[in-house]
Amino acid sequence: MTYDFDTPIDRRGTDSQKWQKYAGRDILPLWVADMDFRSPPEVIAALHARVDHGVFGYARPTRSTIDTIVEALHTRYHWSIEPSWLVWLPGLVVGLNITARAFAQPGEAVLCNTPVYPPFLTAPAQQGREVIAVPLTLRPAEGLAAAARRWEIDWDALERAVTPRTRLFFLCNPHNPVAQVFRREELARLAEFCLRYNLLLCSDEIHCDLILDELPHVPTGTLGAEIARRTITLMAPSKTYNLPGLGTSLAIIPDAAVRAQFVRATTGMVAEVNCLGYTACTAAYRHGEPWRRALLAYLRGNREHLLACATHELPGLRVEAPIEATYLAWCNIAALGLKDPVAHFEKHGVGLSDGRHFGAQPGTHLRLNFGCSRATLVEALARMKQAVASR
Ligand SMILES: Cc1ncc(COP(=O)(O)O)c(C=O)c1O
Repeated sequence: MTYDFDTPIDRRGTDSQKWQKYAGRDILPLWVADMDFRSPPEVIAALHARVDHGVFGYARPTRSTIDTIVEALHTRYHWSIEPSWLVWLPGLVVGLNITARAFAQPGEAVLCNTPVYPPFLTAPAQQGREVIAVPLTLRPAEGLAAAARRWEIDWDALERAVTPRTRLFFLCNPHNPVAQVFRREELARLAEFCLRYNLLLCSDEIHCDLILDELPHVPTGTLGAEIARRTITLMAPSKTYNLPGLGTSLAIIPDAAVRAQFVRATTGMVAEVNCLGYTACTAAYRHGEPWRRALLAYLRGNREHLLACATHELPGLRVEAPIEATYLAWCNIAALGLKDPVAHFEKHGVGLSDGRHFGAQPGTHLRLNFGCSRATLVEALARMKQAVASR
């Protein structure tokens, strides 16, 4: 079966957050992380069938949904989980907030690496918990092509940053926004660090099925029994199969006491997952693999196009290290010397995410979402060329 990722789908005038932001303006939205593609046909068919059933009562996952998740984790990552470890959530951001609230007291701290997906920084603060942000380091700093560079965890800085009041580590793997896949050795070292300081590891793995290169995803929950007992893993079909609006996510929590504490913090506060979300999630994991493979091939094509254009036609914009995963590009635009880079690119018809919200210095970084048709990307890059030329 072939899938059409090429034909642009008009999302203007729909309930799309991504496109509504610029309603009535000629700005191509390459900001928030959803893709402009239709979900796999099997997911759409399953949703049609569920809608035709016509009864939309309070929902609970069926045995088939749970088996699908258990099987998917086993097949994809050799991770054997118990069905009882699953806690369903309407979103991962909810999971980050609940974790901060349930496992740190007011004034206690959450450690994370920056740049990072903004809710890693805002969730603890919203819950009255402190955030300790330790920057990732780009190695080597100078002299080599982007392909040879890598974002690394600064272990010395982590050791200096952790305090007796630090309770949690928030990990993003694969990483938004630097689009990197952490290797087993790095994750093992992080696990050892968390165990040594008695930190609970909250591992956001929402992008784990969007690895573009031949790299394995290693769930932190598979790194050994000891760290598994101290891990809350957050996953969802939402990024991969473009279902974020259906609000269906998972926390996988092996330890019964940790799970009970997590669930207690959700009770009465967190909406339950709805029947359409369960339907879509089950169909995506059960039948969406051919579509996912085709999607990855298409995203690789977009990535190559973007990188070639950045290298040859966008002076002053640098994607600093390989994009190994996600459909997000972390772009260093410091050399452009723009006071308000987002406004500048919007003026030229492209909507990007401001690196400031990810913990970057103002005016230095933008995040670009290339989960769109090639035609949209080509047009956006042409506009960015104009933007770069007319500073
Ligand atoms: C790393 C990461 N976590 C969580 C989310 C959002 O999750 P949700 O929509 O389920 O709250 C995103 C969305 O971009 C993300 O990139």
